[in-house]
Amino acid sequence: MPTTLFRYQAQPFTFIGLKGLSETQMAEHYALYEGYVKNTNLLNEKLGELRETVDAAKPAPEFSELQRHLGFEQNGMVLHELFFGNLKADGGSVPSGSKLARAIEADFGAVATWEREFRAILDMRGVGWAILYQDPTSRRLSNHWITLHDEGHIAGYRPILVVDAWEHAWTVDYKPTERAKYVAAVMGNIGWSAAESRMM
Ligand SMILES: [Fe+2]
Repeated sequence: MPTTLFRYQAQPFTFIGLKGLSETQMAEHYALYEGYVKNTNLLNEKLGELRETVDAAKPAPEFSELQRHLGFEQNGMVLHELFFGNLKADGGSVPSGSKLARAIEADFGAVATWEREFRAILDMRGVGWAILYQDPTSRRLSNHWITLHDEGHIAGYRPILVVDAWEHAWTVDYKPTERAKYVAAVMGNIGWSAAESRMM
C-alpha cells in the first residue's frame, strides 16, 4: 500500500550580527540550503513512484542513480542545518572548563591544538566540510573532512561541530582565493553551547 510522502521543511535560522559574514552572504547560503530541502523531497517523491515497480532481478538505472543521489542532497540538507545551528554572533573561543572544552583537552591535549587541526582541515583544498565528531561508544572526539556532502562520514558518530568549507560559504564576502579570511571569520562565530548540546 502506498504511504503518505513525508516532506521536509526548511528550518528557520537567523544570521544577525555575525562578524565577517554578511547577511547577504548568509541569505545566499540559506537559499542554497532550501535547494537541498527541495531536492531531497523531490528525490523521495521520485523514489516513491518507482518503489512499486522496482525489481532486484531487473536493471533499474534510474532507480540506482536517484538512490545514490539521495545521499548527496539529504546530507546537504542536514549538514547545513547543523552548520547554521552552530553559528552565533561573537561566539569567541570554546568556554574554558565547559564540558566540550574538557573533552577536547582530553582527546587533543589542548583546545589550541584541536583548533589548529580543525582550521587546517577547513583550509584543505577542495569543497567539503570540517566536522568534529563524537564516537558514541568511546565518547572520544575526532576531526574529519567530508568530501562534498556525503563522503567520509563515520557511521553512527555524532556531529558536534559542523563547518561548511564549500566556496559558496564565502564568495559573496570574499574572493575565492581568500579562504583563510573565511576560516578566521567563521571560527569567530561558533555557538559553542549549541555544539556542546549535541554531545553525549
Ligand atoms: Fe553550504
